[in-house]
Amino acid sequence: MNSIVRSVSIDSEVSSGDFRSAMRRLTGGVSVITAGIGWDISGMTVTSVSSLSVDPPALIVSINRESSSWPLVRRYGFFGVNILTSDQIDIAERFTGKDGLKGAERFASAHWTTRVSGVPLLTDALAVIDCEVEDVVERHSHAIVIGRVLDIAVSTRTAALAYWQGRYVAIDQDEDAAKLAEVSVPVRKAARKI
Ligand SMILES: Cc1cc2nc3c(=O)[nH]c(=O)nc-3n(C[C@H](O)[C@H](O)[C@H](O)COP(=O)(O)O)c2cc1C
Repeated sequence: MNSIVRSVSIDSEVSSGDFRSAMRRLTGGVSVITAGIGWDISGMTVTSVSSLSVDPPALIVSINRESSSWPLVRRYGFFGVNILTSDQIDIAERFTGKDGLKGAERFASAHWTTRVSGVPLLTDALAVIDCEVEDVVERHSHAIVIGRVLDIAVSTRTAALAYWQGRYVAIDQDEDAAKLAEVSVPVRKAARKI
């Protein structure tokens, strides 16, 4: 047993509204998690993907256990991470399910392929990561899923999609790096001032 599990009993004064407000200030990269095989598929927009380790390649994602994707992740033991480009807001929107689209309907109007695991992966994402479920920690409303990376495809495109303050934000490596260079102070010069 290499994990520390303890029950936390905190009489918290922090409201969920305050917490939500703080988390709105955290910029998140937007991905679509895909799960299932054939027509038995679903997916969801997430910002909770994060790298866990490089050796071995592994990542984590936090998935609401009420979502339609969760039973598919559990049943098949595989999922895909599709890291979206700045012009894929429409795909991000479809996979929030807010238009009432369910399961396979969400996949219409985009191009998909499969790699090792068989889950659908976008053909024109910024990057796609095919994962096998290595471990799951079910806590509160969500499940923290540890994914072992089976395969990867990376695009040469540079513009990513982020979510910040309740809205989608485009981040372009070329354009934004040039703008940042105009206003930023060289690191060494700034360090000397402190
Ligand atoms: C920008 C954004 C990020 C989201 N990130 C997450 C996330 O990390 N985990 C999660 O469980 N739900 C997240 N959601 C909500 C899910 O996208 C949404 O609840 C889900 O697609 C609904 O799925 P269902 O209709 O299949 O049950 C996010 C929504 C948005 C708009």
